[in-house]
Amino acid sequence: MNDVFLNGDFLAADQAKVSVFDRGFLLGDGVYEVIPVYAGHCFQLAGHFQRLQNSLDGVKMTNPYSIAQWQSLCEELVARNGGGDQALYLQVTRGVAPRDHVFPDNTTPTVFAMSNPMQPVPEKYKQQGISAITVLDTRWQKCHIKAITLLPNSLLKQQAKEAGADEALLIRDGYLTEGSASNAYAVIDEVIYTAPKDEKVLPGITRDVVLAIAKKAGMPLVEEAVAESSLASADELWVSSSTKEVLPITQLNGVPVGQGVPGPVWRQMDVLYQQVKYEGRDDG
Ligand SMILES: Cc1ncc(COP(=O)(O)O)c(C=O)c1O
Repeated sequence: MNDVFLNGDFLAADQAKVSVFDRGFLLGDGVYEVIPVYAGHCFQLAGHFQRLQNSLDGVKMTNPYSIAQWQSLCEELVARNGGGDQALYLQVTRGVAPRDHVFPDNTTPTVFAMSNPMQPVPEKYKQQGISAITVLDTRWQKCHIKAITLLPNSLLKQQAKEAGADEALLIRDGYLTEGSASNAYAVIDEVIYTAPKDEKVLPGITRDVVLAIAKKAGMPLVEEAVAESSLASADELWVSSSTKEVLPITQLNGVPVGQGVPGPVWRQMDVLYQQVKYEGRDDG
């Protein structure tokens, strides 16, 4: 049984209990982070803590811990669960209060963290690529906040699954924003395009790494949203996330993307990403 962290204590997962009046449970009132851990080291911790702070600011919650406290919590939880490659999850909710839409005064936030073995990215996803469908981005106007209220994303991912696809690419006002649980990229004439960081997309930490790799390697990358009408003729499409890394989409809406196999620009990015993953640690 894995150890989890709840409100200051490390305990066995089946011992962790949260009130039914927690606003996370009743209203989805909270924010979260997912941090990949490689060889026992948290990857890009500083970036994840900054995004957590931004999400807390976005929902008007005070950060319950300092960066040093978050860091030691993360390190202890990873160590207690045996190191290696893990997916570390942090969640902060507004806490326990009588149910009301209006924020309660002076509640203590509920802080929960768990860390589970990282599911390796299936080799077939890299050999063959994944499939995606385009769907209308029906989420709210504050997609830059990593809110636990994931029902819209969940519905869109389910729609992809029911269509036999692995991911949903989201279209807002005629442009690709991101995936239902990933950032998205198009490669057109050897230039990588991805939507800019604004309220329409989650500022992915993997996306930051992709941008840094591209810059260092001299791979042309533009932060510009791609029109839905350009997707069918893109040479390559990719998605990225902390647990899936960077994956090529080789089929969109049932039609091959480019040659229908993972493209050369993705291959170069994947090689560099695999290097950075273990070398480019950032312990905060
Ligand atoms: C909607 C959405 N966009 C982008 C991402 C990628 O973010 P990160 O690279 O920080 O995992 C995620 C990750 O879960 C996501 O849910």
